Amino acid sequence: MKLKVAPSILSSDFLHLEKEILAVEQAGADMLHLDIMDGHFVPNLTFGPGLVRQIRKITPLPLDAHLMITNPADFIDKFIDAGVNYLSFHIETDANYVSLFRKIRKLGVKAGIAINPETSLDVLPDIINEIDYMLIMSVHPGFGGQAFIEKSVEKVRKTKEIIGSRQIEIEIDGGINFQTATLVKEAGVNILVAGSFIFKSDNYAKTIAGLRNV
Ligand code: DX5
Ligand code: ZN
Repeated sequence: MKLKVAPSILSSDFLHLEKEILAVEQAGADMLHLDIMDGHFVPNLTFGPGLVRQIRKITPLPLDAHLMITNPADFIDKFIDAGVNYLSFHIETDANYVSLFRKIRKLGVKAGIAINPETSLDVLPDIINEIDYMLIMSVHPGFGGQAFIEKSVEKVRKTKEIIGSRQIEIEIDGGINFQTATLVKEAGVNILVAGSFIFKSDNYAKTIAGLRNV
C-alpha cells in the first residue's frame, strides 16, 4: 500500500482555517485528519460536527475523523451526516465496539479503531474482520506537538503481523517527522498523521512530499 499523508488541522491556524485547508490540499495532502476531543476522554476540547460540515463544503479531500470522546455512539450519525469518510473511536470508549463498526460501515464510511500507547493489541484478532483501519497512537492523545513514543514502532510491527495480507490500513498519529516516519514506514504504516510538523513548517508541499517519500 502507498504511503498517505494526513495533516491534522489541530496544529493549523484556526483563525484562517479555510486558507490552511486549501494550502495543504494544494500541497498534496491525501486526506485531512480531524481531532475531535470532548474534554473528558482527553483533557482538551476541539470542535464538533458543525465545523466538520463546513469543512466538507470547501475540500474534496477524504475527511478522517478521530473521535477522542467518551460516548462515540451518540455522535457517529452526526459525523457521518457531516460528511466524514474515515471514522475512528478509542476501543475503551464503547464495550459494543463491534456494533459501532458495523453501523459505520453500513453507512459507507471506513471504520477504524484507535489504540492508545498503553492499550494492548489483544482485541485485534477478534475485530479484524470488522474494521478498515487501525489508528495507532504514538503519543498520549489530547495535544499536538508531543514527542513520539518509540515503542509504537514495535506495536506497528505486531499489528502488521496480525493483519497479514488483509486490506486493513495502519495509521500512526503523534510526533511524526521525517525521522519517526522512516521508522514507522519500515514497520508497516501506510497513513501518516502529522500536525505540528506540517503546519509549523515553512513549506507545506516540501514537508508533505518529504513525509510521503521517507
Ligand atoms: C493528538 C492527536 C493528533 C495530533 C498530532 O491527540 O490525535 O492527531 O494532532 O499532532 P502532532 O503531529 O503535532 O504530534
Ligand atoms: Zn488524531
